[in-house]
Order: sequence, then structure tokens, then C-alpha cells
Amino acid sequence: MHFLTPFTILLTAAYTTTSALKAPVNPAGRKETKHGDDWASCPPVWDEISATLTREYLANGQCTDAARGAIRAAFHDCFNGACDGSLILADECSRSENRGLPRVCGSLAELAKEKKVGVADLIQFAAAHAIKTCGGPTVPVKIGRKDSHKASPVGQIPPHNTTAKSLMNHFAAKGFSVTDLVALVGAHSTAKQFATDPAAAGASLDSTPGQWNNEYYAEVKRGTAPFILEADKSLAEDLLSGVPFSLFAVSQSAWAAAFVPAMAKLSMLGVGGDLTDCTSALPGGSYGREIRKTSVWERLRW
Ligand code: HEM
Repeated sequence: MHFLTPFTILLTAAYTTTSALKAPVNPAGRKETKHGDDWASCPPVWDEISATLTREYLANGQCTDAARGAIRAAFHDCFNGACDGSLILADECSRSENRGLPRVCGSLAELAKEKKVGVADLIQFAAAHAIKTCGGPTVPVKIGRKDSHKASPVGQIPPHNTTAKSLMNHFAAKGFSVTDLVALVGAHSTAKQFATDPAAAGASLDSTPGQWNNEYYAEVKRGTAPFILEADKSLAEDLLSGVPFSLFAVSQSAWAAAFVPAMAKLSMLGVGGDLTDCTSALPGGSYGREIRKTSVWERLRW
């Protein structure tokens, strides 16, 4: 397990930035990925999918319930095994640990069929799109996962009352540091709860569920968020996970620098082989372009 230090985050951010900037660009301005000795660009169908998702995920400058569902779906497809589409293809979506997800599962299944793309890829692309649409950073997204109709084990998705210690162990076993875990759970910045306490169905996990911002961390720490999951409270209060939790509460850019590589790693759990970079099909384009737009001060404002 790692402690978060400004140095670790700086190194991670520098690495991510450098790799993004190094990616070659073809004449159409799209980033490309190497396949053996060839360079393959992102198929144009992902631009069409991106346009469809923007219509579904954005309303009045806020992200929608469908966007929130897509972000959560990406975690639930990957974390119980591999990012293989089994959430939808093996109907894991109907499990109680996935309560609230069937609607987003249905609409992504339909879109994958209509556009003839892989379900596993679409789940991860939709999450990266939703994060961006909610106002978050660009998470690099690749295409080429293998779909699976085989259900992954039950009981791998952490319940709402999991302790920080147990979360840290569970995430570490899958290759995620404490910083990764705390950065990932920041996705609750755009979350609502329905099943945890049905009496308060629709309550949000911070005061701005339509926007991706670090209010979530500050409000959970202060105890002022409209609804606080026991797991989130435990992460905020634990001696170890409380360190990055406090840092992200005061620095949105430190959170983004930790979130992007952690989410990119999550979206590739159990995935191998050559994949094609489709980051350029997300709204707003590439991560490299985004980093170049920020000032040096913003990049270093930990
Ligand atoms: C670290 C452990 C985690 C726990 C214990 C946890 C638990 C939960 C719970 C209990 C809910 C509310 C479900 C309901 O009552 O309807 C929820 C919602 C949500 N979670 Fe997590 N979660 C975790 C990590 C993550 C991660 C890693 C992501 C994404 C990267 C994520 C994204 C979301 C989103 C976007 C929602 C809102 C869904 C909606 O509004 O429909 N969560 N989570």
C-alpha cells in the first residue's frame, strides 16, 4: 500500500502527460495506436456513439441519471473479474449488488447492437464519456476488449457499509493503491443512492450531483453531504485513506491527477491484446490537449 505524496502524484501526472503527448496524430487530427507494425485509428462509429451519448448524458449543463449509471456500470463490469461486458451479456445486472443499474444496462445493450460494437468496450467508453460530460477529466479509453457471456463471481462489489480497511485490502488485491481507491471513490461526486436507503431514494452523495467536482470529499469529511455511505465515511476517517481524502478535498487537480490513471487501469482489468485508442472520440478530445491548456501553476497546484 502506498502513502500519497505530492511527489508520487507529480510523477504519475508527468508520466500520463508524457505518454499522452507522445501518441502520434494522423492527418485527421486523431491519435493512433500501434497494432503490430501498423497504425490503426479509432473507427468512426465511436464518433457517432459519442454524439448519441452526449444527448443522453447532458441536460441543462448538468449530467443526467443515465451518465451516473454509466460511470457506476463501468466499475461493476470490471471489478468482479474483467472488463468483459458480462454485466450485460451474462445478466449480472439483475443481481442485487447491481440494483439501480438495469436501465443503463438495457440502453447500452441496445446501443451496442445498433452500432455493432463490443459491449465491454461500450461500457468503458460510455463511462469515460459520462465522466467528461459531468465536467471531469479525460480518461484515456481503448477499444478491442473481448466480450464474455460467462458470469463473474458474486460478492466482489463492495457493499455500502464496507470498512476502509476491508476496501483497502480488496482493492490492493486487484492492484490498486490506497490513493487509487480514494481517487476512484470520488466518482461519488456525481452519485445518487436509491437502494441503500429506499426511504431516501434519489438522495445525492454530494450537493452537486450534476457536476464532477471535489465537493464530495469536503462534504463527506464535514458530514454535510445530503447522503453519506458508511464506506465513504470510513475512508474519510481512516488514518491511511484519510490522507488522500483530505488532499482531494482541497485540490481538484490533485484528485484529477490521481483519478485518471486509476480509472484507466480499472477500465483495463483482465484485458489483454492490442487495443485501439479512441480517446479522441470523447467530447473535448485528448488528454494531452487538455493538459497543454492548463497553466504550469494549475499542473503543480497540489
Ligand atoms: C470503493 C467502494 C465503493 C462502494 C462501497 C460503493 C458503493 C456505492 C453505493 C452503495 C451506491 C448507491 C447505490 C444505491 O443505493 O442505489 C453507489 C453509487 C454509485 N457509485 Fe459507488 N461504490 C464504490 C466505488 C465506486 C467506484 C470505483 C465508482 C466509479 C469509478 C463508483 C461509482 C458510483 C456512481 C456513479 C454511483 C451513482 C449511481 C447512480 O446515481 O445511479 N463507485 N456506490
